Amino acid sequence: MRLISGRTKVCGVIGDPIEHTMSPVMHNAAFSKLGLDYVYLPFRVTAQELGKAVEGARALNIRGLNITIPHKVAILPFLDKLDPLAEKIGAINTIVNDGGVLIGYNTDATGFLQALLEQGIEPKGKKVAVLGAGGASRAISFILAERGAKLVILNRQPARAEELAQRIAQVFKREVKALALNEENLAGILAEAEILVNTTSLGMSPEVDKTPVPARLLKSSLVVFDIVYNPIKTRLLKEAELAGAKTINGLEMLVWQGALAFEKWTGQQAPLDLMKEVATEALGHED
Ligand code: ATR
Repeated sequence: MRLISGRTKVCGVIGDPIEHTMSPVMHNAAFSKLGLDYVYLPFRVTAQELGKAVEGARALNIRGLNITIPHKVAILPFLDKLDPLAEKIGAINTIVNDGGVLIGYNTDATGFLQALLEQGIEPKGKKVAVLGAGGASRAISFILAERGAKLVILNRQPARAEELAQRIAQVFKREVKALALNEENLAGILAEAEILVNTTSLGMSPEVDKTPVPARLLKSSLVVFDIVYNPIKTRLLKEAELAGAKTINGLEMLVWQGALAFEKWTGQQAPLDLMKEVATEALGHED
């Protein structure tokens, strides 16, 4: 085991709850593998204490933080600078402390894109259906629009899809469709879509028998990306595989968002395979 010394740099994740985060195992394994004198810790921080926590991190000269639910938007006013994409999205998941200057990034967005590109999928110019209009969808829909995808956002509450679509349309001056998430709309959209992304929590443990898309609407020409990583292979991904579709699981995005944060804190290339391996192991141990 690595020894913590007076020179050890500290990183961490703040959220509430925080017990189920995969980030400490991924980052500590990566630091060890590269022989970096860093440590990564989980911090449970309530919404009321968020500002104090950020000031504390600054005072303690913490090198980097990940930000998770429910703080990804509320943390913005406490930062000194925002990366331009993070500013457009209006949410961050990563802070770099650059000599006392706190800079916010959204590696959920860039991690999602990297996970797609790594599989040889270029969303530029493609018809992409995004299911869900919550926080995760916001990061993903923004980066897909920035990359030049033709977006349709489908959500159970159509007003949320509409609102997100309008924001994106305004920022990128391009048309973004919004629809209610129901079977009829899915049938129409999936007849033409080339990429389907599930950002809803449907199919997440313990409700593993749920799926946002009826199996009969899945087809071999579709790329299906489910950002749920617990379980790693959701019902949606199993049925997509049976339909002959190419599938990408949520672990890929989880690992990539971590890897991109790691690279910002350390300046080193992240050991992606190791991070995937330890996260998979840790997920196997979840209750
Ligand atoms: P996250 O940050 O993970 O995106 P969120 O902001 O709470 O979490 O968003 C959850 C998303 O899952 C929303 O799009 C939500 O749909 P609504 O906006 O209509 O609530 C979607 N979702 C959750 N449970 C769902 C269900 N049973 N059926 C359909 N959509 C669901």
